[in-house]
Amino acid sequence: MAGPVGTAIARTSTFTFADTEQMKQWAEGKGSHFIYTRYGNPTLAVAEKKIAALEGAEDALVTASGMAAISSALLGVLQAGDELIATLSLYGGTYRLMRDIFPRMGIKVKFVGTDLAAIEKLVTPRTKALYIETPTNPALRVVDLKRAVNFAKEWDLVSLVDNTFASPVLQKPIGMGFDVVLHSATKYLGGHSDILAGAAAGKKSLIEKARQMVIYLGGSMDPEVAFLLIRGMKSLEVRMEQQCKTAMAVAKYLEKHPKVSRVHFPGLASHPDHKLAKRQMKGFGAMMAFDMKGELAAARRFCERTRVFLLAASLGGVESLVLLPVYSSHYNMSAAELKAAGIEAGTVRVSIGLEDAGDLIEDLRQALA
Ligand SMILES: Cc1ncc(COP(=O)(O)O)c(C=O)c1O
Repeated sequence: MAGPVGTAIARTSTFTFADTEQMKQWAEGKGSHFIYTRYGNPTLAVAEKKIAALEGAEDALVTASGMAAISSALLGVLQAGDELIATLSLYGGTYRLMRDIFPRMGIKVKFVGTDLAAIEKLVTPRTKALYIETPTNPALRVVDLKRAVNFAKEWDLVSLVDNTFASPVLQKPIGMGFDVVLHSATKYLGGHSDILAGAAAGKKSLIEKARQMVIYLGGSMDPEVAFLLIRGMKSLEVRMEQQCKTAMAVAKYLEKHPKVSRVHFPGLASHPDHKLAKRQMKGFGAMMAFDMKGELAAARRFCERTRVFLLAASLGGVESLVLLPVYSSHYNMSAAELKAAGIEAGTVRVSIGLEDAGDLIEDLRQALA
C-alpha cells in the first residue's frame, strides 16, 4: 500500500461518530472507535504497538510520563488493604510515591534489598504485587530477574519491573515471565531529551487495568509526543549499542582516576553485581555513578567544571549529563535512606550520550584536575 513513511499525527482531542448507532455501540463496549484522546488515539496506538513489539508483550500503553505509567499500572492492581513488596533502591520519585502516597490510600509497602534476601518473610495473604527496578537509579545495582519472577509466581503476585535503564535492547523481562514492564520513555525510548513520556507493557488484562487508571486519573500522552516517541524509537538499538560502548570506556577511565573512590557500573569486574549483569543483560548500559573522594564539595566542583557533560537531571538522551543525586532524585532524604539507596553525598550520576568517547574522557580529565 502506498503512503507516508512518517507516522501521521492525529492532532485532535476528539473524534466524530458516523451516527448515533456508532455512539451506542461504543457505549455498550462494542467496536473499537476512537472517541476522545484520553481514552485512546491512533498515533498513541502506533507507539503502543511498537513498544509491545519491542518488549515482546501482549499489549502496551503509553502515558504522559514514566510516573503516570508506574502509578497507573500499580493502582490498576492494588487497592486499600493490599500490600506491595518493592526493592528499596528505586528511582526517587517511585520510592516517594510508595513512601508518601500509597500509605494514604491504605496500601502498605514493604521494602527489600536488591539481593531480595529473606523476601519470603515479607509475604502475607494481603501481598498482591512485587515491584523491582534493574539496574537501579542511581546506584546501578542489578536485581536478579529470574529470582524475582520465580518468587512472584510462587506466591501468586503480579510482577512489575522498571526497565528504563536497560531498555528492551538489553533485557526483555516479559520473556522471562514478568507480568508488566514499565518505562520512563522520557529516557532511552524517546532518546533526545525533548519529551516526557511513559509506557507500560505486558499482559493484556493488566495493561487494560492500567489504561482504565489513565482514563480515571488523566495521565494520557499527547499525540505530538507520541510522534516524537515513535521517531526516537527508530534509532533505539543503534543509540544503545554506541552508548554502551562509550560508557565502558568512560567507566574504565574513572575507575583509575585518583580522585574517584568508587565507580558504580555493572560492566566493571569490581561491581558487586557484575556476574549477574553479564548473565541477564545483553550489555551493561550507559548509566553509571561514581563517588568523589572529597565528598560533596569535590562532587560539586566537578559538576561545575564539565564542558561537554551538561549538568542536568534526566538521562538516556543523546547528550551526556551529570548530576548530584542528593540535589535531585534523592533530595531531602535521610542518611539512612541514602545508604539504603547505595549513594553518598559525593556521588555523581552520569548518563552517557552519543558524543565522541575521547571528547568525554578529555572533559572528565579537565573537570577532575
Ligand atoms: C528509572 C526511572 N523510572 C521512572 C522515572 C520517572 O519517569 P518520568 O520522569 O518520565 O515520569 C525515572 C525518571 O527519572 C527513572 O529514572
